[in-house]
Amino acid sequence: MVSLPILQFEEKIVQTVQDNPVVVIIGETGSGKSTQLSQIFHRHGYSKSGVIAVTQPRRVAAVSVARRVAQELNVNLGEEVGYAIRFEDRTSPKTKIKYLTDGVLLRESLSNPELSDYSMIILDEAHERSLNTDILLGLMKRLVKLRPSNLRVLITSATLDGNKVSDFFMNCPVLTVPGKLYPVEILYSNERPTSYIESSLRTAIDIHVHEPEGDVLIFMTGQDDIEKLVDKLRDKVQSLEEGSCMDAIVLPLHGSLPPEMQVRVFTPPPQNCRRFIVATNIAETSLTVDGVVYVIDSGYVKQRQYNPTSGMYSLDVVQISKVQADQRAGRAGRTRPGKCYRLYPSKVYQDELLDVTIPEIQRSSLAGSVLYLKSLDLSDIDILKFDFLDPPSSDTLEDALKQLHLIDAIDTSGSITNVGKIMAELPLEPALSRTLLEANEYGCLSQALTIAAMLSAETSLLPGRSKHSEKKRKPPPDLPDGSGLGDHIQLLQIYEYWHQIDYHIGWLKDNDLQVRGMLFVRDVRKQLSQIIQKIAKGNLDVQEAESERERRRDYKNLRKALCAGYASQLAERMTLHNGYRTIGFKSQLVQVHPSSMLRTDDDGMFPDFVVYHELISTSRPYMRNVCAIKVSWVIPIMKKLENLNVNRLSGGSDQVTDGEQRKSSSLLQQKNLAIEQDDRESKIQAARERFLARKAEREQSLGRKAKK
Ligand code: CDP
Ligand code: MG
Repeated sequence: MVSLPILQFEEKIVQTVQDNPVVVIIGETGSGKSTQLSQIFHRHGYSKSGVIAVTQPRRVAAVSVARRVAQELNVNLGEEVGYAIRFEDRTSPKTKIKYLTDGVLLRESLSNPELSDYSMIILDEAHERSLNTDILLGLMKRLVKLRPSNLRVLITSATLDGNKVSDFFMNCPVLTVPGKLYPVEILYSNERPTSYIESSLRTAIDIHVHEPEGDVLIFMTGQDDIEKLVDKLRDKVQSLEEGSCMDAIVLPLHGSLPPEMQVRVFTPPPQNCRRFIVATNIAETSLTVDGVVYVIDSGYVKQRQYNPTSGMYSLDVVQISKVQADQRAGRAGRTRPGKCYRLYPSKVYQDELLDVTIPEIQRSSLAGSVLYLKSLDLSDIDILKFDFLDPPSSDTLEDALKQLHLIDAIDTSGSITNVGKIMAELPLEPALSRTLLEANEYGCLSQALTIAAMLSAETSLLPGRSKHSEKKRKPPPDLPDGSGLGDHIQLLQIYEYWHQIDYHIGWLKDNDLQVRGMLFVRDVRKQLSQIIQKIAKGNLDVQEAESERERRRDYKNLRKALCAGYASQLAERMTLHNGYRTIGFKSQLVQVHPSSMLRTDDDGMFPDFVVYHELISTSRPYMRNVCAIKVSWVIPIMKKLENLNVNRLSGGSDQVTDGEQRKSSSLLQQKNLAIEQDDRESKIQAARERFLARKAEREQSLGRKAKK
């Protein structure tokens, strides 16, 4: 194996780390940061006094890099070298090098704030600026002061602005490992294509027919597009005249592929064969595929963004930044000079692309992160003033504090409650943790665990939502339908039925349910119940047996628990139609997702109130996964909403006197009422107008008939 660039700087790196508690290392993607740094420090004895931790923002990367390092050191994965990702821990007391997601390290810091097991913490892929890595950066700043003699922190990155991080860490040294990147010729399109799939297909075939050997890496935005392009590319390659060009294999690469499919991209192709790798931006920095000479860049990426005023996530396809475009192009120049085909004009690159990517912390809901920070119990932390590399907007922080207060995780003065402390320990989003605790009080924890596990699967597990559902399916013969109460209950019933028939795989297939997803859920459920066993009232087995009774009660307790957990995600139906209005901070109109199992009553109306799992904006705002609830459960939550004071919740000084608070909350109340009234009135007005218009139309046509 050719020596990786980073190994040529081994001595310099070790020396610098010895002399400084924090060091930033910048190196070209593929230079060996993720796989080699941990081994370098292992060789230099750093693993004698503790474990060397390497964080990764992506689960896939944590697993694949750990596997690779175990291989290089010739040890069994899970022994000296292991990994830990959410719901999967492959480490042992022998483990010296531990790859883990940044989320897992954050959670570990709850039970052990000094992270005393570790002698070294490497925050890898810092340029991805994942939410959890950003929070860890802030925590590391405190930690190195607490453990100056026995902890070393490394921050590594491909393209990060090293000086910015260095400033953040009191001018720590920045080491740059020069990569040996070959020149990459950039070819722009004259205009943006109407279809990125077709345009990528044409470009790929053009390369295959006219260009010398070398693999082709194509950046698409998501699994659906990748699958379509892979199919088309395979067909097209097969239809080419035999002997007119070399063989080709086409491989997809994205986060939801099973691991054994992902690692296929690391095995070199057979002689005289070109590989087409169709990938998400996972291939941009986290995984390096060797042998790539040609890159096709659509210029887009799929990004989740959160709007704190509406509480809505949208999954948008957005333009990449200049940094991302350059990084993608660089993938073509690792083994020899390459070419990058940008499917957009150079003017777009110059004028439209942002210089850098917006960090996740500025486009996510922060309820979970704020709960962690609160439960770390750092006396001097005012969340609204926490030391972030790039601070989130105060809207986002306030939204998080309000959400946490509504679900009893923090009290009116912003201190974490006992409930909040337990919630933080569960590896779930705060709303789901809260649901479990509430269900525990009502004796239906076992069922809530099932729902939590079903909702934790990365893909939707309701039938008929799988991607290739265009083909006509026969209606499922024996699939539970959620008793009309909605999707949560359907998810529960599906799992319970599957459990009753001894986890029969054939039944899943017959009903178009994802086998791998369901097996994952079974595993997650088992782990969650182990974690929660400590706090569970009574015996889970007994509860399981009692689930029949809960079913006969229309799952009343379970739905009530969901309502408590998702107190900031409730909606009220409009009086005259089946649209809903969200209850909470800023009310807006939303629809039940068309695929929902929620049933209408005899008058064709949905329930008056629902709880929803997620608001997602596609063509219009939709509630995904909804469940019917009762008004009597909603009223106490609305009362709570009226008495909020964000300054106090943040843990800072209470700048508002009680009198003022009362005034402002009643103002808030008036404002909400006004919105409500407006809303109602305008709806009624609109309905009246529609009615009058219909009436006029009818009279006109009657008049015409009469004339005849
Ligand atoms: O982290 P960085 O991008 O600097 O590089 P790395 O992930 O440590 O990878 C260094 C080299 O090992 C690259 O050439 C990868 O292609 C290779 N590698 C591999 O072949 N298989 C893996 N699972 C991981 C890395
Ligand atoms: Mg890396």
